[in-house]
Amino acid sequence: MDLFEYQARDLFEAHGVPVLAGIVAYTPEEAKAAAEKIGGVVVVKAQVKVGGRGKAGGVKVAKTPEEAFEYASNILGMDIKGHTVKRVMIAQGADIAEEYYFSILLDRANRNYLAMCSKEGGMEIEQLAVERPEALARVAVDPAVGIDEAKAREIAEAAGFPEELHAKLVDTFIKLWDVFKAEDATLVEVNPLVKSGSGELLAIDGKVSLDENAGFRHPGHSELEDKDAADPLEAKAKELDLNYVKLDGEVGIIGNGAGLVMSTLDVVAYAGEKHGNVKPANFLDIGGGASAEVMANGLDIILNDAQVKSVFVNVFGGITACDAVANGIVKALEILGAKATKPLVVRLDGNSVEEGRRILREANHPLVTLAVGMDEGADKAAELANA
Ligand SMILES: Nc1ncnc2c1ncn2[C@@H]1O[C@H](COP(=O)(O)OP(=O)(O)O)[C@@H](O)[C@H]1O
Ligand SMILES: [Mg+2]
Repeated sequence: MDLFEYQARDLFEAHGVPVLAGIVAYTPEEAKAAAEKIGGVVVVKAQVKVGGRGKAGGVKVAKTPEEAFEYASNILGMDIKGHTVKRVMIAQGADIAEEYYFSILLDRANRNYLAMCSKEGGMEIEQLAVERPEALARVAVDPAVGIDEAKAREIAEAAGFPEELHAKLVDTFIKLWDVFKAEDATLVEVNPLVKSGSGELLAIDGKVSLDENAGFRHPGHSELEDKDAADPLEAKAKELDLNYVKLDGEVGIIGNGAGLVMSTLDVVAYAGEKHGNVKPANFLDIGGGASAEVMANGLDIILNDAQVKSVFVNVFGGITACDAVANGIVKALEILGAKATKPLVVRLDGNSVEEGRRILREANHPLVTLAVGMDEGADKAAELANA
């Protein structure tokens, strides 16, 4: 999960990383009040989860609260690389002498962490990384040790900082490592890390990604989620513990196991070419235990997607046998009652397949069509979606 800059700023502050005052605002009036509260020069900053806000006109220096009001009016609602600005942060203005770059990230290829650092931070960092990669120091960080004083010093030296800045840099790098480790982040980036006119270091812009797999260790992290950005059906599926991803097409898909669901997407897309180019409407993996309740929840989600015209249930019976899955489908249709309105193609295979098919044949639900093979099922579902 990526965080907004103001959320990253708050995490930094909680871990002792030097930051300036920042207040989030949703309206120009709130922006003005925040500027009054902070006092002096402030910066109005678009809060969108994409870089390059400065170059896109989403970062403006305001000398008075009235100016903050005016810039916030312009920036709120602005589109930055496809992201609509719904909030701004009013940040205390920094007296910037120099801009540096620092980040810690997960280095998957090397199964390690990596720290990157440069004396030449700021808005041109991508260009620097391409044109003069030697100006961007890369230092491997052993996960078992992390960034201790020796490692922090190594990073400061590798980036070529003068000796007199080392003590402050070391202190800040260690605190940023603390953010990375204690919050279970996969990325902590500060750009720019600023040296102020009086020689203090300040984290002026922060980008943090949190590892959702570690969410159970951080009950507070769920509050950082951007609830209004989430698709309502995806949010509902998440609440029900279902692996659901909304796609653009017309054929709803339910399967068990990510591998089977992915190949089902492929065969449906292929079959759709013959039937008006219909495509998969979603990815829904009901996992190992396809109980009636799980099946009902899954069907409920998919049938609530107005774009869905037909549903293809493709289940391979393993530990949960096909008869249990078939009973699950029959009960799910009972639970849903009149809410079930779209045709369902069901293909079962694997453990107790004959029994599973018998149960569905006998239930003889008017919306259900049985298919034997996966290609046949995909073809039928695509045809029904195009009808
Ligand atoms: N609080 C601030 N005080 C002074 N200048 C700032 C402040 N915040 C940002 N800036 C300036 O604006 C530039 C871009 O802002 P930044 O927050 O890094 O956004 P982005 O990286 O999305 O362009 C910074 O490099 C810095 O020069
Ligand atoms: Mg930046």
